[in-house]
Order: sequence, then C-alpha cells, then structure tokens
Amino acid sequence: MGSGQAVVVFGAYGHTGRFVVAELRDRGFVPVLSGRDAGKLEALAESFPGLEVRPASAGDPASLDRALAGAAAVVNCAGPFAATAAPVIEAALRAGVPYVDVAAEIEANADTFAHFAGRARNAGAAVVPAMAFFGGLGDLLATAAMGDWTAADEVHVAYGLSGWRPTTGTRASGAVSHERRDGRRVRFTGGKLEYHHDALPSVKWAFPEPMGVRPVIGEFSMADVVTIPSHLAVPEVRSYMTVEAVEDLSAPGTPAPAAADERGRSDQTFLVEVVVRSGGEERRATASGRDIYAVSAPLAVEAVDRVLTGRTRATGVASAGQIFDSADFLHALSAHLSFELRR
Ligand SMILES: NC(=O)c1ccc[n+]([C@@H]2O[C@H](COP(=O)([O-])OP(=O)(O)OC[C@H]3O[C@@H](n4cnc5c(N)ncnc54)[C@H](OP(=O)(O)O)[C@@H]3O)[C@@H](O)[C@H]2O)c1
Repeated sequence: MGSGQAVVVFGAYGHTGRFVVAELRDRGFVPVLSGRDAGKLEALAESFPGLEVRPASAGDPASLDRALAGAAAVVNCAGPFAATAAPVIEAALRAGVPYVDVAAEIEANADTFAHFAGRARNAGAAVVPAMAFFGGLGDLLATAAMGDWTAADEVHVAYGLSGWRPTTGTRASGAVSHERRDGRRVRFTGGKLEYHHDALPSVKWAFPEPMGVRPVIGEFSMADVVTIPSHLAVPEVRSYMTVEAVEDLSAPGTPAPAAADERGRSDQTFLVEVVVRSGGEERRATASGRDIYAVSAPLAVEAVDRVLTGRTRATGVASAGQIFDSADFLHALSAHLSFELRR
C-alpha cells in the first residue's frame, strides 16, 4: 500500500491519466495533477477534491521542476511521448525521483533507452518506459514464461482484443510514429529493429479456449519489440493482433472508449498470449482482463510502488521484465488480470 507519498501524474486529465490518478489514490498515494492545460487540471480536480494541481509544460523545464518538487515519483501519461518523454525524464533526473511512463511508441521507447541508459544508471535512478498494457505486460509475460532460460530463439506476443476503440492520444501517437518511420513498417528480426514496406501477413492464432482460433495480423509490432529484447537474449520478437482490433484502429470513425462499469472501464476484453521457443521447446504465459487503457493504471502504479519500496532488480532505464520479478508482479495484479503460466 502507498504510504501517503506524492506521485505526480503528467497528463493527468487524459483518458489513461485519469485511471492512473484513481489507482494511485485507491492505493494510498497522493496523486499530484499535472499537465499542460490548467483549466483541464482544475476540472479534473473537481472529481478528486483535495488533490493539488500543478500545471507544467514539456517545453518549460522550470515548470516541470515545480511540478515534481517534493514528490516521490512521476508517471508520464502524456502522449505522443516523442514530445514529452525526454523533458519529463530530464526533470525526474534533476529531482532525483523515479520515472514511469505508459508510452507505446516504438521509436520513443527506443529513444528512452538510447538517450538515458548511461545517465540514469550513473545516477542510480529508475526509468521505466512502456509500463502499461503494450510494452510492459508483454515483457512481464515473456520474462515469466522464460523462467530459468537466459536466451530463446523466438518470442511471439499474440493480442486477442475483442475490439479497439482508440483514444485521441492513441491516434496521435500512431500518427507521430507513422511519420517518424516515413510510412514504413517495423519488425524486430535478426536481433534488431528492421524498417520495411512488406504487407503484413494475415495468419491464424490458436488462443486458449474459449477464444480459440482467431484471424490475426502478424508483425503488428507493438512496444514489446523494444522492451523484450532490451534485456532478453532473443533475436526474433513478433506480435500479432486480432483482425477486429486492427480494423477498429484503422477506421477513422471508430469512437473513443466508453465507460461501461462503475470504475469507468469499457466493455473491451483482452487475452494476451506469449509463446517463447528455445531449441524445440516451448513455454507459454497468458493474461486476460478488461480494458487495455484501464489495466495500464494498475500496471504503472504497481511499478511505482515496487520502485519506491526497493523491490527492483536493476537501476537505470529498465523495462518491466528486467526491473521487476515478473511472475510476482503479475500475481500481485490478480484483482485486475488473470495470469497463467503454461509449461
Ligand atoms: N502502452 C500502452 O498500453 C498504453 C496504454 C494507454 C495509453 N498509452 C499511451 O498514452 C498516451 C495517452 O493516451 P490516452 O489514452 O490517455 O490519450 P488522451 O486521452 O488523448 O490523453 C492524452 C493526454 O496527453 C496530453 N498531451 C499530449 N501531448 C502533450 C504535450 N506535448 N505536452 C503535454 N501534454 C500532452 C493531453 O493533453 P491535452 O488535452 O492538453 O492535449 C492529454 O492529457 C498515448 O500516447 C497512448 O498511446 C499507452
């Protein structure tokens, strides 16, 4: 349980930021509401009486320093992260506090490792990128499935989403990534990110029942292609996405997610299956639950809690699977997702 420590949420009034604020409060932390729009922060504070509002802008380091003053950690929920990750990490390093973000932008996630690994390690700071559904969960599952293996030939991450109503932030982040790639696609093969123009393969994935065999789009690369190989010796990381979700995401008219329960979660469901293969042997791990945005909050807040209580295995820039005990972390989220290892 959090011990009344202040945790800044940058991008607090976004769809995901609101789930993170609520989760922090439920777990005994004191969220500090930050972001670039003072009016939207004040409006959010009306739903969370008593919480402090600290407007700040990614382009104004002094405002970020004021936002982080006296806080124990910062969670960055403001995406596209191409614009926010580096300035907020810089501020976290200046303040000497851990940084966690929910970025699902492959290039921005890779930049975080490339630009901050040395400085964060030298400072003994924890910087945890992609600590959310995409990037974090797949990495935790892959690491848990690996168990005592130190290397594998392949990791496959299959996303069984019932559908995908994207938020404005998801669409904006997708557009920024598309632009950064010059319209190319990206996959992780031969031990590195490879940019290409090949059509994505349509294949089938046999999810555990009751989902069963479903058509999926292969090489639908998510942040897992950065997080998993950042610490696991594996030359091939592939991800797959159910066709319904890809169609929803690519249709310009798909509405944003709508609350369908008292916690504000939508009725979207997910089943993520990770398969790791090594020398003809195979190990699997699965997680299932509801609402990929909502579940990102317990993932990020569990990370904050573990960093603040010293339950970590690394310092510097580190993905979920590297810095935490993966299986223990996933079991701790039993109120939010069902986790199973299949060996
Ligand atoms: N890894 C995952 O699984 C995962 C899960 C959830 C979300 N995400 C990512 O998190 C981000 C937010 O998603 P969301 O669903 O919360 O979207 P959202 O509801 O549209 O919220 C986006 C938030 O980011 C803020 N923002 C955007 N650009 C900013 C900038 N340059 N400076 C300061 N604030 C900025 C927005 O503020 P304004 O209203 O002022 O623009 C808003 O508060 C997206 O990049 C999304 O891909 C990833």
